[in-house]
Amino acid sequence: MCGIVGYTGQDKAAEILVSGLKRLEYRGYDSAGVALEDRGPDGDAVLDVIRRVGKVAGLESELAARHLPATCGIGHTRWATHGRPTQSNAHPHTSCDGRIAIAHNGIIENFAELREELASRGHVFKSETDTEVFAHLIEEAYEGSAAAGIPATHDLMAAVREACTHVVGAYGLAAVCVDEPGVIAVARKDSPIIIGRGERGSYVASDVIALIDATRDVVVLEDGQFARLAPEGITYTDDQGEQIEPAVTHIDWDVDMAEKGGYPDFMMKEIAEQPRVVRDTLVGRLAGTGELDIDELGLTFEELNLVDRVYVIACGTSYHAGLIAKNLIEGWARIPCEVEAASEFRYRNPIITPSTLVVAVSQSGETADTLAAIRDVRIKGAKVFGITNVVGSPVARESDGVIYTKANKEIAVASTKSFIGQVVSLTLLAMLLGQVKGKLPRGQTRMLFRELGDTAAQIQRILDTRAEAVGQAAAACKDAPSALFVGRGMGAAVSHEGALKLKEVSYLHAEAYAAGEMKHGPIALIDPGFPVIAVATRSAVYDKVVSNLKECEARGAKIIAVATEGDEDIKQIADHVIYIPEVRDAFSAITATVPLQLLAREVALLRGCDVDQPRNLAKSVTVE
Ligand code: G6P
Repeated sequence: MCGIVGYTGQDKAAEILVSGLKRLEYRGYDSAGVALEDRGPDGDAVLDVIRRVGKVAGLESELAARHLPATCGIGHTRWATHGRPTQSNAHPHTSCDGRIAIAHNGIIENFAELREELASRGHVFKSETDTEVFAHLIEEAYEGSAAAGIPATHDLMAAVREACTHVVGAYGLAAVCVDEPGVIAVARKDSPIIIGRGERGSYVASDVIALIDATRDVVVLEDGQFARLAPEGITYTDDQGEQIEPAVTHIDWDVDMAEKGGYPDFMMKEIAEQPRVVRDTLVGRLAGTGELDIDELGLTFEELNLVDRVYVIACGTSYHAGLIAKNLIEGWARIPCEVEAASEFRYRNPIITPSTLVVAVSQSGETADTLAAIRDVRIKGAKVFGITNVVGSPVARESDGVIYTKANKEIAVASTKSFIGQVVSLTLLAMLLGQVKGKLPRGQTRMLFRELGDTAAQIQRILDTRAEAVGQAAAACKDAPSALFVGRGMGAAVSHEGALKLKEVSYLHAEAYAAGEMKHGPIALIDPGFPVIAVATRSAVYDKVVSNLKECEARGAKIIAVATEGDEDIKQIADHVIYIPEVRDAFSAITATVPLQLLAREVALLRGCDVDQPRNLAKSVTVE
């Protein structure tokens, strides 16, 4: 959560910081702020700290009016954890004397005791945040503290390094100090930090998207590494202060890919990209021999053959991709598969043996609970396979093998194209396990692979032809106080994602239920006009779903059905039907999810919601 940026160079920093923060808003948007180097009335160096509650746009207007000349500064966009989203809790935070300012992404676990110690030594706190202790720790290390037994460093980078030795937790940190004009000191532990050198200065950010206009050659800072940015260049050091030469990563995706590209919002752009995501995720995955080719597997076929239990662990939308995978892994490979929210899994004592395969699914690759679960099961001896959208992310680095979903940068907070990429990747993994276990012959794999690829065109057809039907269905449920999503089998898994999407972007309460479970409670909710959104595609359980819908219809529910093209019978019970092309049940989740994404977006727009940045959420959840 939270995004940080920093710039030092020849250009005005305020504009560069604001444009970087706007691109990082997906990480949180409760408040935004900058600290810029400036001169006070008597010519002394000072820091201008400007913070606003709310989105970056508010900060932008304030900065535009002030025309600040600074060429060095740091910025932050916040997702509140410790402390409400107020101006005093907004970053950057400053030391007692205001001469040091910091922007921080992460959580300081021992902040309460550090705060107490610092307060006992005379430090005065101005916010409720955990972050502020970092500013005071750096101040002590810079100025020295007899009470703490710390000598003065009078060196910002050394002071940051010293401060980090006292902090337990996660941090991506950028600090500036009036006494070292043009210098930004950077530290990282368990929170992403990307650094780049452009023609006109040096940049730091939580995500490459904030600095890609300046350079495509970046350093992904590792845990325990530090960087000192100055207008003339960047030096990297380890935790002992020894100089290091970190590897440079070249970014080959285009910034246009992260812009709206003519769509009204990122959510629509990303939904529309899904056919491409299916195609790209499948490119090069089937060898001429009919064998699946997942070269970054990190596990031998012998190791995979030993797998006798699979856990899929994930959070949010990624968890729903896991629900779909369970059906496929058990169906094709006949291996028991359990799907668990990482936040639960990590605090249980699951049965893990060397033949357990843990599949960690995470769009961002940095979700705190998913990462913690990975670390835990690896200690217990499980093999871990990651499915992520972010190259080089912690999930990718800490797994034995990885499949990258080729969704490219996803900006809208509610995940759409990444979900499709995850489902396609998990489908490949399920097919591979089926092959390795000798349950899925090559001929069948080839056929499945071809049909999986066909879903790209099928999604396109839904996008091209179903806007009107979606619009009518959205109008029918926009004023409802609540909605139920139902289905069976794959349809039940898809219902969960449909309900989540609606909740996140439209703030309309929605729940998903296995259709057969309705009569055990939820049906009591139904009164005339209550929306029931059903995934009622043709499958072995189609008739059962229809029976459950009849029970809802009898009680006056307004039924919106996602159904298979050609199914005229469904019109007898459904008030609105959104047709999707006929596909094999195994792939129905890929196509059936699309109308539910469109429905959620449409309802949200009708209710006047911001579909890209829903309230209270963040795209990347690096806190537990
Ligand atoms: C947040 C996002 C969701 C996402 C979830 C898991 O809650 O808003 O869209 O599904 O985190 O994130 P991950 O990056 O691990 O897939």
